[in-house]
Amino acid sequence: MDKFFIRGGNRLVGTIRVSGAKNSALPCMAAAILTEDEVTLENIPQVWDIATERRLLTSMGAEVELGHGSADHRTAISCRSLSDPVAKYEIVKTMRASSLVLGPLLARAGMARVAMPGGCAIGGRPIDLHIKGLEKMGATILQEHGYLEARAEKLRGAHLVFDKITVTGTEDLLMAAVLAEGETVMENCAREPEVTDLAALLCAMGARIEGAGSAVIKVHGVASLHGAHYRINPDRIEAGTFLIAGAITAGDLVVADCNPEHLAAVITVLQNAGALIDIIAPDAVRVRASGQLTAGDISTEEYPGFPTDMQAQYMALATQAEGVSLIKENIFENRFMHVQELVRMGANIKVDGRTAAVRGPSKLSAAAVMCSDLRASASLVLAALVADGESILDRVYHMDRGYERFEEKLQGVGAQIQRMGNVFASNEVEGTAG
Ligand code: EPZ
Repeated sequence: MDKFFIRGGNRLVGTIRVSGAKNSALPCMAAAILTEDEVTLENIPQVWDIATERRLLTSMGAEVELGHGSADHRTAISCRSLSDPVAKYEIVKTMRASSLVLGPLLARAGMARVAMPGGCAIGGRPIDLHIKGLEKMGATILQEHGYLEARAEKLRGAHLVFDKITVTGTEDLLMAAVLAEGETVMENCAREPEVTDLAALLCAMGARIEGAGSAVIKVHGVASLHGAHYRINPDRIEAGTFLIAGAITAGDLVVADCNPEHLAAVITVLQNAGALIDIIAPDAVRVRASGQLTAGDISTEEYPGFPTDMQAQYMALATQAEGVSLIKENIFENRFMHVQELVRMGANIKVDGRTAAVRGPSKLSAAAVMCSDLRASASLVLAALVADGESILDRVYHMDRGYERFEEKLQGVGAQIQRMGNVFASNEVEGTAG
């Protein structure tokens, strides 16, 4: 298994580029199931979860072509023949977002056999709201032997109200609705940019959708969809992670190829902490931090609030801020796996239920630490960048799931970070956060 060796103390200076959004690519790739035509997607990040999604679609009979060379961030998917509409457990267990094929398979093939994703490091991660919505649209869904057996002659438009805001739940049902008979109104939808990205692709394929990005989405079902060529959004979480890297190292970093509009909550929190943030172009943000950072409370919320996927990274910053920062995690029940590892590096953090109190600044010392999930791993990298000495991060395959060439990008702006071990030694990964 790969490890990162990181020597702290360097300021990050220069320009770092953001890849495409993993959490847009995953639903957009699943959307190719909805048509017999080829769907070509640009700005696809080269991360493990995309490789897993590719394996999943191929296992169902799709042809998935990976761009090469200059086109290596492109993927062309043709689901002309879906010979085996089954999302097998050995794939789903490594990536719970595989459940995103449920809605499109029912809409396209009238049937689906999808392994239940199970929990993961950050929480139980049920998909009951996906199931409830599909049943309301006329699907029959049985759960047996760890699989969902779903069937629907023809999905019918329905009036759906989500009991909780769910990102992939909104995406799954949006993909089910575009080919359903009649109109579907979905309320209490997720407003994340990844939902808007998916809706834009679906409209490019001929779907009729209004209100994506707001809490109420209306879909007029159509008889069929055609292929499309679409470029997905930049990854706002990768961009936010790099902004914190620039701030925590008192650097001067330009985060390029991003969308500043998707970063409003993160930028506000960093400015409140004392970082200097300038939007220097429609796709670039500059972060500088010279003086002492100051503590600030955050509470994770659905978009456009402060993202849960940035909570761990902010916690690393809070260890270097003057004062006490209260960090409340409202979305997932177990998303403090990074706390004990940060404490082992010298951080002063007390957890009480869903709130962590971080007292800073703490002088962090390098240590051997363990990555537990995608964003916790990013938090440990950020802490190691300012720790005294060389830290060793184990199980960095968690990072490879959602961050493209992370160490190379950081090396390019002055970080002392090296990867050791067999690159991508194994795709048998633990945990299925994502
Ligand atoms: C998406 O997960 C993201 N993954 C997650 O990113 C992200 O943390 C999360 O949204 C929240 O923003 C992808 O888009 C692939 P939810 P998702 O359904 O859709 C509960 C990363 O780091 N819930 O919005 O699975 C659920 O337990 C990953 O890139 C139900 O109760 O999250 C949670 O408490 C991690 N029943 C809350 O809703 C359901 O049927 C929000 O979950 C569905 C969800």
